[in-house]
Amino acid sequence: MADLTADLGFIKLKNPVIPASGTFGYGGEFLRFFDLDLLGAFVMKGVYLEEREGNDPPRIRETYSGLLNSIGLAGPGAEGLTTIIRDVALKTSTPIIVNVCGGSDEEYLAVASIFDDMEEVAMLELNISCPNVREGGSCPAQSPHDTGRVVKLVKENTKKPLIVKLSPNVSDIAAIAGSAEEAGADAISVVNTFLGLALDIEKRRPVFKNFFAGLSGPAIKPLALKIVWEVANAVDIPVIGIGGIMTGRDVLEFILAGAAAVQTGTVNIVEPTGSVRIINETMELMDQLKIKSLEEIRGGLKI
Ligand SMILES: Cc1cc2nc3c(=O)[nH]c(=O)nc-3n(C[C@H](O)[C@H](O)[C@H](O)COP(=O)(O)O)c2cc1C
Repeated sequence: MADLTADLGFIKLKNPVIPASGTFGYGGEFLRFFDLDLLGAFVMKGVYLEEREGNDPPRIRETYSGLLNSIGLAGPGAEGLTTIIRDVALKTSTPIIVNVCGGSDEEYLAVASIFDDMEEVAMLELNISCPNVREGGSCPAQSPHDTGRVVKLVKENTKKPLIVKLSPNVSDIAAIAGSAEEAGADAISVVNTFLGLALDIEKRRPVFKNFFAGLSGPAIKPLALKIVWEVANAVDIPVIGIGGIMTGRDVLEFILAGAAAVQTGTVNIVEPTGSVRIINETMELMDQLKIKSLEEIRGGLKI
């Protein structure tokens, strides 16, 4: 049987499939569907220092083969999340990743510091690519300079491995990824959602109060795959590929493009057991194609 382990350097995961932030609740919600131990790791919904209500409805709209969301990072705040994590960690030994948000560099550091002290947390994912927050949200992923500054600050003052999650809504993602690497990031995750627009023709208004919303799902897969390939060629740290992954075949495409592991997002919303199906399909396809390990094909795209 194929070896499914995914090597991120600082940690080895039993398989490459990691449910993505915001699409998997806080993990515990999925316990009635499957054993969380089946996953490579999982990411908590993004968290700020204080509790947030998020954006006014509507928050979700389906598109052709995709999903637009404007949740606005609703959540219990960092202290509230520590309790939730302690509870879910009792039910699984799968590594837990906290998605750290902030409205300023200081807030990013304050949130990261709270989870840095928790043994139940394996890694931090710095979400510097907030597409759905209009006020009080900083988006350092818009520039190499801001990315470098916030990553350096958090990295120098925390101990946990730091994944930096980048926005696709930029003109030179390779430069931004390079800046995150230089500032000490242990891995890069790409991509967060693409900005999109939904219109209501009757009201002649945008559907979402925030105007733009974040597009995810199969619609973005080719775009995400291109970015993963670009970033994997620009940095030496591991890249975690995200965007429209729905099948085991998609997983292997991202690995071939250079990803060391992947995150599954929208699939968890439309099919709660989707991530487990994807793990099984990845294994079956590797056996079928006689691929012995992920390392055998990682970044091995023939050009
Ligand atoms: C409803 C929803 C909420 C999300 N919330 C977060 C979040 O809190 N933090 C974050 O970094 N990304 C968030 N994302 C982005 C996903 O983690 C992922 O990067 C994106 O959906 C692309 O993957 P997919 O096409 O497989 O869904 C959210 C996505 C959706 C659909």
